[in-house]
Order: sequence, then C-alpha cells, then structure tokens
Amino acid sequence: MASKTIPRALRLSTRVAVPRRTFVSAVRARPSAATASAVRSPVVVPARGIKSIDFAGTKETVYERDDWPREKLQDYFKNDTLALIGYGSQGHGQGLNLRDNGLNVIVGVRKDGASWKEAIQDGWVPGKNLFDVETAINKGTIVMNLLSDAAQSETWPQIKPLLTKGKTLYFSHGFSPVFKDLTKVDVPTDIDVILVAPKGSGRTVRSLFREGRGINSSIAVFQDVTGNAKEKAIAMGVAVGSGYLYETTFEKEVYSDLYGERGCLMGGIHGMFLAQYEVLRERGHSPSEAFNETVEEATQSLYPLIGANGMDWMYAACSTTARRGAIDWSPKFKDALKPVFDELYTSVKTGKETQRSLDYNSQPDYRERYDKELEEIRNLEIWRAGKAVRSLRPENQK
Ligand SMILES: NC(=O)c1ccc[n+]([C@@H]2O[C@H](COP(=O)([O-])OP(=O)(O)OC[C@H]3O[C@@H](n4cnc5c(N)ncnc54)[C@H](OP(=O)(O)O)[C@@H]3O)[C@@H](O)[C@H]2O)c1
Repeated sequence: MASKTIPRALRLSTRVAVPRRTFVSAVRARPSAATASAVRSPVVVPARGIKSIDFAGTKETVYERDDWPREKLQDYFKNDTLALIGYGSQGHGQGLNLRDNGLNVIVGVRKDGASWKEAIQDGWVPGKNLFDVETAINKGTIVMNLLSDAAQSETWPQIKPLLTKGKTLYFSHGFSPVFKDLTKVDVPTDIDVILVAPKGSGRTVRSLFREGRGINSSIAVFQDVTGNAKEKAIAMGVAVGSGYLYETTFEKEVYSDLYGERGCLMGGIHGMFLAQYEVLRERGHSPSEAFNETVEEATQSLYPLIGANGMDWMYAACSTTARRGAIDWSPKFKDALKPVFDELYTSVKTGKETQRSLDYNSQPDYRERYDKELEEIRNLEIWRAGKAVRSLRPENQK
C-alpha cells in the first residue's frame, strides 16, 4: 500500500507541505499552518525548574534539570557515596553519567563476572571505585540496586541486612518492592526508598547525556523516612542524566512498564508485524514486498514522523486514499486488540507476569534458552527478508 500511496503523498500533498526530504529535515522543518497546532508545545508555567504542564487537559508536574546544575548536585551529594550495584545496561549508563557529573560513585558487582570486566574497561578501578557487592553496599550511603530484576530477588537475603539506617535504597524499576510477595524484596522500614526509571535503554541514558541532551525518567518515592526522599529522587534523576522527570508511584511505574513492553513497545507490535506479513505472503506477495509494506516503511519513514509530529499530522501528510483507509480501519484494530490489552493489564497487575519473569529468568540455563528463542525469531522469514532489505539501504552499502 504505502510504497505507492504514502511516499507519493509525502511528495505531492498540497494541504501539508512535506516535500521530498529526509526524516531529519522533516522533523526540523517548520510545520504548515494546518499542522502547527499539532506540534506546538502545551502551555508551560515555569517555576524554578518545575513545570506544570497541561497533558491534554490533565495538569501534571514535571521537574527539569535546570534547577539542578552540576555544582548544586555536587554540593547536594557532597557527603554521599553512591554505591551502584550491578553494571548492566542501566549500571553502565547511570554510573558513567554520575562519574562525569563529578559525584562520588562506586560500583559493586560480582568479582570477575562479565560486569566486573566491563567496569574495568570503562575505567573503574578495583579497590578504588570498583568493589564486590557487599563492600560497595557497606561503603555506600545511597545504594542503587541496578541488578537485573531476577537477581534483585535472588540476592535480597544477602543485601537486606546491609541496608542499615541512614542509607537510601534506589531502584530503576518498581518491580522488586511492588511485587514483594513474589520477589521477597521487603524493604527495611527505616530507610528512604526511591525510584528513578529512565524511559529507555541504559545505552540511551549514556548517549543522550554525552550529546548534552537527557533522557526522560519517572521518579517515585516508596518510603520517606527522612522527609527528603522526593528531593533526593529528583536530584538523583538529574544526576544520572535525565532531562525531565515525571512523577509517578512505584506501582504505576511497574504496571505501565511491564504492560508497555509486552504491548506496543515490543510484544504487540511484533505480533502485528507477523500477522500482516503472513497474510501478505499467503496472498502471493514476495518477501521483499511483504517486509517493505510491514516493517521497512514503518520504521524508516512513518513511525519517526509519527514520533515527531503525532498521528493527526501523519494522516494529514499522506494521500487521501491512505488517509481514508487508515482512519476507517483503525477502530477495527482497536476493537479487536483492546480485549487483549485488557487481559495483559490484568496479567501484569495480578503479578502473573512477574511470576513468569522470575521463574524463567532465575533458571540456571536462562541465557541459553533465550539464545534459542532469539535464534528462532532471527530465522523467521520476515526477519531474514528484513536483513536483506536493510543491506540494500544506501548507508549499508560499502
Ligand atoms: N535495560 C533497560 O533498558 C532498563 C530501563 C529502565 C529500567 N531498567 C531497570 O534497571 C535495573 C537494571 O536493569 P539492567 O537492564 O541494567 O540489568 P542487566 O543488564 O540485566 O544487569 C544485570 C546485572 O546484574 C548482575 N547480576 C545478574 N545476576 C546476578 C546475581 N545472581 N548476583 C549478582 N549479580 C548479578 C550482572 O552481573 P554479572 O555481569 O556479574 O552477571 C549485571 O551487572 C532493573 O531493575 C531494570 O528493570 C532497565
């Protein structure tokens, strides 16, 4: 469909000026009057780095990093040792950002494990700012538990007694304390427990920070013993490299996160790709055509435009043929999928998804099992066709 209709519309549409251009230039281009309202920022009421933003009629408070320049962060945490436990995706991104912000941060991981070696490669020095988990927690005042969620549960019996009064416990996911009946992570009652959950991979936490930008993160307080927990969460959010911070609760963070990644972010979208591709193949279309109409055009052209400008803009920017059909079919997909999303949310909220994750990810051979599943996905025709299509992109041609 779109290889005929949408690109042509992007070139020819007169209602919305979208001349032939790359995604980047399209994003940077000034919107036409017809679409200006779609891309205009909501009303912003600044107050010392705290903004009240109208999100489609609901006012929410957003914290931005302007209120926390580097010098202020350094002063705020001058008596703290940030003990970062685990050096996976988030540990790497948050740890390096904290270090570059000039804060006193140490890393605690299993000696001679993969993370230990990676930390050394990133310049952490054994005995100086790289320790085993127990030593790091003993030295830390703010203990950042960035182990994998399954490992947080597994190691809790060793970690809990080290979390003595006066320390702060930090998470980047509400998973462990919210589902404490399943994870057994029952936090001590005499310490602050806070959350900073970056809305993206730890690699992005790092790359955006290095570009002078900042990822968006959620912040939350699970337990406020000192009265300063929220302020600490905000300061930590900025210190690990966030640009904006949205306030939430541990429960809401974990429910929305587990739901989203199983839904539109990965599981749902993969299911939709497969369903569309299979029907195209069953109806006689070639692999390249089926892949282009399902994935390539989506990820290379339309989704970035939707991300930059919104869905109404996208509808306005495509041909009238594409627009009519897409607007007609959208409610049918919504009606078909909503019961599945409802089932998914219930499965998240009841802890079924957590139990499944804990059971699976704590098996000794879980890595090998994932490797096998990923190999099966890699070998699906759609993704083998995708590999060939990607190799044709000019930037991938040597
Ligand atoms: N990844 C993301 O995009 C993302 C985004 C937002 C929030 N989060 C949250 O951030 C937290 C950390 O996630 P992550 O993705 O960065 O984790 P990860 O990459 O899975 O990190 C695993 C870390 O846990 C350690 N580990 C695993 N099993 C262990 C055990 N039994 N004993 C001691 N250490 C063990 C690993 O050390 P070894 O190398 O020694 O095995 C490694 O340092 C989680 O709560 C996650 O939900 C993640």
